[in-house]
Order: sequence, then C-alpha cells, then structure tokens
Amino acid sequence: MERILVIIKPDGVERGLIGEIISRYEKKGLNIVECKMIKADREILEKHYIEHKGKFFYEDLITYMMRGKVLVMILEGNNVIQLIRKMHGSTNPLDAEVGTIRGDFANRKTENIVHASDSKESAEREIAIWFS
Ligand code: CMP
Repeated sequence: MERILVIIKPDGVERGLIGEIISRYEKKGLNIVECKMIKADREILEKHYIEHKGKFFYEDLITYMMRGKVLVMILEGNNVIQLIRKMHGSTNPLDAEVGTIRGDFANRKTENIVHASDSKESAEREIAIWFS
C-alpha cells in the first residue's frame, strides 16, 4: 500500500474547487485517509519546500501558500503516487493535458491549484511535516 500527501493550494480553495478535485479522486477509487484544512505558516512551508530554497520563485511560492487556507490530505492505495500525479498534470500549465486538474483549471506555474508528493520518500517526508 502506497501513501501520498496532496495539498489543495489557496487558489484551489479560493476558487471553490475542493469539491471538484475530491470528487475526481473519489471517482478514480482513491482513498482519502486523513484530511485537514489549515492556514500554513512560514515554518511548515519552509520545511515542505526546502528543495526549492534559493530558486527564483521561492519567495513568491511561500507568500502564495500563506495567503489563505489549504486542504491537506493523505491518500492511500496501489500506485497512488503515479495515479495522482497523472490526474494533476504537469506543473507548467502550458504542458498540462486537458482533462487533468492543472490542464483544466491552472494558467500559471506557481498558482497551480494542487501539490502532490513525487516519490515514496517525499511522501513520507511530507506526511511527517504536515501530520506529525
Ligand atoms: P508544487 O507541486 O507545489 O511544487 C513546487 C512548486 O513550486 C510548484 O508546485 C509550483 O507551485 C512552484 N513552481 C515550480 N516551478 C516553478 C517555476 N518555474 N516558476 C514558478 N513557480 C514554480
């Protein structure tokens, strides 16, 4: 059984997309095993985005992630990481296929609606940060 951390980011929450996104996961048969709505602070976001520290978009990313509430979830299932990442589409909305969450709803690289862990190792690291 594999686990993944998913975040519906402030733009997803502000735009009323929580229901739409969760409904897609449910229709795909994926299991949400933990879920909470929080306003993330700088400390947790600095831990979460440590690999991006120093990149040109880092400060904009932290500011954007703090501007409103986020919905943080753990999903569990076989190949859930690959499945969720396919459903989210590419980070760059120009590359995200129509039918994916970013392909349908995002038009910027930073404000891209959702986050998902990219490997088993990052999933366990991120779950420990958000659900410790
Ligand atoms: P996320 O899946 O949360 O992981 C890192 C985030 O940084 C990414 O989604 C985007 O929000 C943002 N990001 C990644 N690459 C870029 C980029 N080239 N320009 C702006 N923002 C980016």
